[in-house]
Amino acid sequence: MIDLHCHILPQVDDGSESLEESMKMIDIAYNDGIRQIVATPHRNHPLDFKYKGSTEEAFGLLSSEVKRQYPDMQLYPGAELFITKDFIDVLNRKPYDFTINNSRYVLIEFDVSASFSSMQEAIHELIVRGFIPILAHVEYYEALFENLQRIQSLKDEGIAIQVTSSNLTGKNGKKIQTFVKSLISKGLVDFVSSDAHKSTFRRPLLKDAFDLTVGCVGEDEAQRIFYKNQQAVIENGFLIKSGLKRTSGIRPVNQRLYKYFAGVAVIMLAVAIFFTASVWMRDRYGGEQGQPTTTGSSEINQETTSTLSEESTETIEPTSVSGTTSANTTDQTQASSEPMTSPSKEAIEEIYMDRLLTYQQEYENQLGRIVSLIKDARETIQDAEERKIVVEGYLNEIINLEDQADILVYQALYELQNELEAYRYDVSIVQEMRDEYHRIKEEKTEFYLNQI
Ligand SMILES: [Fe+2]
Repeated sequence: MIDLHCHILPQVDDGSESLEESMKMIDIAYNDGIRQIVATPHRNHPLDFKYKGSTEEAFGLLSSEVKRQYPDMQLYPGAELFITKDFIDVLNRKPYDFTINNSRYVLIEFDVSASFSSMQEAIHELIVRGFIPILAHVEYYEALFENLQRIQSLKDEGIAIQVTSSNLTGKNGKKIQTFVKSLISKGLVDFVSSDAHKSTFRRPLLKDAFDLTVGCVGEDEAQRIFYKNQQAVIENGFLIKSGLKRTSGIRPVNQRLYKYFAGVAVIMLAVAIFFTASVWMRDRYGGEQGQPTTTGSSEINQETTSTLSEESTETIEPTSVSGTTSANTTDQTQASSEPMTSPSKEAIEEIYMDRLLTYQQEYENQLGRIVSLIKDARETIQDAEERKIVVEGYLNEIINLEDQADILVYQALYELQNELEAYRYDVSIVQEMRDEYHRIKEEKTEFYLNQI
């Protein structure tokens, strides 16, 4: 097994306090069946730790001692990056100081009371810069606790999820254990790690959690989240998706989007069927009423279809930007056989801008509706206690509405970025659009909330 999250370096944070203590932790891990450990000291943490030694020195010291005493145990450098408001500046200074084994994977933690939108924002910032964030101990955050839909939405945005082995084995209570088990059984977890700090408590143990996982979801899934994904991170490879089916208990994040695209797909299918039937009817009974059918028309249609399909294939390839050499030709057939150009950056941006504006408009409509309901409740409900409960319910609805809007917008921006990158366009517009969205959303929210 591989432990991806462990505060085993001596005298650098609130983990091990000495080299001897670190070696005791190594011994515990070794006897538990762990053969590879990523040392992940806290970085950029707001707490003032007693020890603040050099991470590089501590890593060198412990590595050579481990090599001497446990030759088949391997230690890798890493960090647990605390997300603060200025974390990007910190990360930009020395990005690979904060990633795992110099890969693109970065283990991150938030304040336990961080808001969902601030988490989304930070995650997006990391993804835009090419990092793959791994959210440490997902079970500790108030905004995510027992909220599988939100966790799924973060995963959809591109984050990987880590849970703590001691929470899975029930060392910290039944409630958190049940939650962690539910995440594992739904395939939402990518890593189980110890997050060990000492040899006496929060120890580097994984075996009991592994056995429990095998009993819960089988050997393959246990291997995936205790070994294979960790190996992929160390090698800067690709994570393996869970083989467990997504249950109906978790709604896809962008259910509305899925419904929208499903609707569009059905319409396109209907149009395609209608078009095919029309061509077949025209071939069989003649294009014009009363005119005889010729075999020639069928051949022409086949040629046309073939040309269109060639064009489509070339359009999909991002590097097939054609020049304008064919633009002067007067031969219509020749012109139509030229490959189509890639969509312009402006055209792509416009599509997503429209999508964002639709989301913003919908957000504003819903916000206005809820605010009216609050006003009505204040005027019509006589009983003060009942009025308070109803109004609180509506205010919660606004929070959920904001979350939903964020989810849709972040997904759209994520897709925009992928599309721009596919055509090798500059992606700075993504951040600009995100900032603009937040600015407008805050402005609208303030405007409506001021009315109540
Ligand atoms: Fe940690």
